[in-house]
Amino acid sequence: MDMSASFPQERLLMTEATPGDVLVTGGAGFIGCALSRLAAPGSRRWVAVDTLNPRIHETQERPAALSPDAELVIGDIVETDTWDRLLEDWSPDVIVHLAAETDTGLSLDHPLRFSTVNVDGTAQLMEALRRHDVTPRRITVASSRAVYGEGMWLDASSGEARMRSQRSHAELLAGQWDFPFARPLPARAGSTPPNTSNVYAATKLAQEGLLSAWCSSHGVDLSVLRLQNVYGPGQSLINPYTGILALFVRLAASGEAIPVFEDGAMLRDFVHIDDVARAFSTVISPDYKESGTTTYDIGTGTPASVLEVAQAIAREVGAPEPVITGKYREGDVRHAWCDIDDAIAHLGWSPEIDWRRGISAYANWYLERSGTTR
Ligand SMILES: NC(=O)c1ccc[n+]([C@@H]2O[C@H](COP(=O)([O-])OP(=O)(O)OC[C@H]3O[C@@H](n4cnc5c(N)ncnc54)[C@H](O)[C@@H]3O)[C@@H](O)[C@H]2O)c1
Repeated sequence: MDMSASFPQERLLMTEATPGDVLVTGGAGFIGCALSRLAAPGSRRWVAVDTLNPRIHETQERPAALSPDAELVIGDIVETDTWDRLLEDWSPDVIVHLAAETDTGLSLDHPLRFSTVNVDGTAQLMEALRRHDVTPRRITVASSRAVYGEGMWLDASSGEARMRSQRSHAELLAGQWDFPFARPLPARAGSTPPNTSNVYAATKLAQEGLLSAWCSSHGVDLSVLRLQNVYGPGQSLINPYTGILALFVRLAASGEAIPVFEDGAMLRDFVHIDDVARAFSTVISPDYKESGTTTYDIGTGTPASVLEVAQAIAREVGAPEPVITGKYREGDVRHAWCDIDDAIAHLGWSPEIDWRRGISAYANWYLERSGTTR
C-alpha cells in the first residue's frame, strides 16, 4: 500500500524504548498496520493476528502496509485454537487488542456477530492467558467515542450538565436536531458517563469492563484508549462502512455532490491515523509507567462540523458544493468530540495533525490510490 501521503514518522521513533514482545489482535487492520510501522521495528518481536476479514481486506494477502518487522498469523480471536497456537511457547509482554467488528451501522442487524467477536473474543483472550499462564506487562484496548452516546449537555436554564439519551424518531422526523436550550459538552473519560446507543458501542464498553476486571485481578496494567473518528491513508477503500470521511472522499472523487445529513452542523472530532498510532505507541512503551486501569480520550479536541469537512473535501478534489439533505440516520449522535487534556497531561501525547491538513492529504492519497484524475 502506498503510504506516500502519510506524514513522516522517523522522529516519532527516536525516544521510544522497546516495548518487548508485542501481540496485536486485528494487527493487519488500519490502526494495526500504522502502529506496526511506528513501533514494530523497535520491538523484540511483533506478532499481528488477524482473520483478514474480506469486508476490509480486498485480497487475503498480507497487507503491504504492515511493517516488514511484523509476523502475521492468520487466525480468528474467537477460536481457542488461534490462542493456543500463539501462546503455546510464547509470552508477549504487551497485548494490543484491536480486533473487532467495527461497522456501527451493521451492529443493530447483527448483534450476535458483534457480541461474538468483540465480547467473546475478548473473553477468549483472557481465558487463553490463564490457560497458558501468561501475564503480560500491559494490555491496551481500542475503545470508542461511541461509548458516550449523546454525551453530556449543559442545560441553559439550570446551568447543570445532564446526560442526554438518544434522539427520538419523532424529534428526528420533525428536524429537531439539537436538544433545545442546551449546549453540548466534549466527552471526557472519568466525568462523562458511558451511555451507549447502539450494539457496537455496547460491545466496546463490554470489552473495557471485561478487561478492567480481569487485569485488576491479575496485576496487569490496562490502557483503554477511546478513539474519536480515525481517518487517513491506509483506511480500507472497499468497506462501505469505514467511516464518513472515506465515504465523502469516494463520492467527491467520482464527481458527485456530497450529501450531508441533518443540517450539516453535527460536530465530529477527526483524528489522524498517525496521531492515533503514536498514542498506542506511547502506552505500550516501557517508559509509560501509569499502573492499574487508565482511560484516555484520543482525538484532536477540536471539533469540525460535518458540513465544513464535506466542503473542504469537495474543494480539494474539485467536486460540486455539498448538498444538505435533511435526511438522518436513526442512532446517529448529534455531536461528538473529546477533551484531550488528560491525555496530554498523563500520556505526554498530543495530536500533531489538524483536520484541514490531514484531510487534504487523505483526499489526495485516495485520488492517487484509486487512479482518479481531476
Ligand atoms: N477507525 C476508527 O475510527 C475507530 C474509532 C474508534 C474505535 N476503533 C477501534 O479500533 C480498533 C481497530 O480499528 P480499525 O479502524 O483498525 O479497524 P479495521 O477494521 O481496519 O481493523 C480491524 C482488524 O481486525 C480484524 N479482525 C476482525 N475480526 C477478527 C477476528 N475475529 N479475529 C482476528 N482478527 C479480526 C480485521 O480483519 C481487521 O484487519 C477496533 O477495535 C475499533 O473498534 C476504531
